[in-house]
Amino acid sequence: MENATQYQLRLASRMSRLGTETAFEVLNKARALERQGKDIVHLEIGEPDFDTPQNVVEAGVNALRKGWTHYGPAAGLPELRQVIAEYVSKTRSVPVSSDEVVVVPGGKPIIFFSILSLVDEGDEVIYPNPGFPIYESMIEYVGGRAVPIQLREERDFGLDVKELASLINERTRLIILNSPQNPTGGVLSKADIFHIADAIGDRNVMVLSDEIYSRLVFEGEHFSIMSIPGFKERTILLDGFSKTYAMTGWRMGYGVMRPDLAAQMTRLMTNSNSCTASFTQMAGIEALTGDQSSVDKMCEEFKRRRDVVVAGLNRIKGFSCRMPKGAFYVFPNVTQTGWPSKKLASALLEEAGVACLSGTAFGDFGEGYLRFSVANSLENLNKALDRIQKWTAKNL
Ligand SMILES: Cc1ncc(COP(=O)(O)O)c(C=O)c1O
Repeated sequence: MENATQYQLRLASRMSRLGTETAFEVLNKARALERQGKDIVHLEIGEPDFDTPQNVVEAGVNALRKGWTHYGPAAGLPELRQVIAEYVSKTRSVPVSSDEVVVVPGGKPIIFFSILSLVDEGDEVIYPNPGFPIYESMIEYVGGRAVPIQLREERDFGLDVKELASLINERTRLIILNSPQNPTGGVLSKADIFHIADAIGDRNVMVLSDEIYSRLVFEGEHFSIMSIPGFKERTILLDGFSKTYAMTGWRMGYGVMRPDLAAQMTRLMTNSNSCTASFTQMAGIEALTGDQSSVDKMCEEFKRRRDVVVAGLNRIKGFSCRMPKGAFYVFPNVTQTGWPSKKLASALLEEAGVACLSGTAFGDFGEGYLRFSVANSLENLNKALDRIQKWTAKNL
């Protein structure tokens, strides 16, 4: 049957502006190849390959048994909001109270809610490119103007403050920062962030500071723009549990922001999710207050793997790779292969059995790069390096 329904689907026009996260599409393609019997090394997905720490799992199971299975307050359980306020006060050296915390299902809703609540049609939002693709998608979805700021390899994928200053104008409503960064692994130093703050000056512009990888820093220390005097009022800090505690499937993250904006995001929660699942929030309290050794172990392991993968990629013809300072991605330059990134990523998947992402999955300025996640065993990472090496020897 050509058409199962006589009624044509009439989508709202804004749906044509909605983007996606290619990682999930590549994963599906890789799974289809596996069903045909192919062996694939998965380096496309951005999630820790570790289990959620046992103490956190136990806390979640206990909460289920104790009946934390009902609706909770839209902004999050007061106990968890308090723990997050204390955690952020300590880690960002700035006093935070629980009415400045909104708990949501993952980090993503904070991106969506920030843009929904602050950006009118035609307003400009400056965002990192290459960067997490959901920023651009959401800005365009609400009818905002997405203004990319290019992250350049020669600056270790930091941003050029002069360029940032030149992009800010009276239409700018929001500036998105992300450090440690997906997909480049770049980390903004304290000095970089002070320069960014200088470029913003005293303008009434909000900053969405995506710090979801804040605990995965290999060199130096994580620093937040929220810590700079005068910026707490203008910062929405995004952090969460997905990456730090290997809790991607639990769906829990949070935003920290001025209380009047927190109240608006709470209204968006009421209208969309009602609340974040109650038993997962109980597990979140344990994650933040319990034993942290698993976080340190995971970070060390990612660093070890990063070293192996960067060294391995730098030995491959046509690849050159900087040493990322945080997160769990490496972002090699592949321009010397002569292949466009997307075509190269497809060939590596189909012919070499290595799933990775084209840099263009993170915006136009990702051309010339590939993203590999190091959230896989050293054995598999070495297998992937070997396969890429053999493929390039044959095809370049
Ligand atoms: C930079 C960045 N921000 C936010 C998120 C979303 O995290 P969550 O899975 O908690 O929604 C991700 C996930 O990959 C990310 O890389």
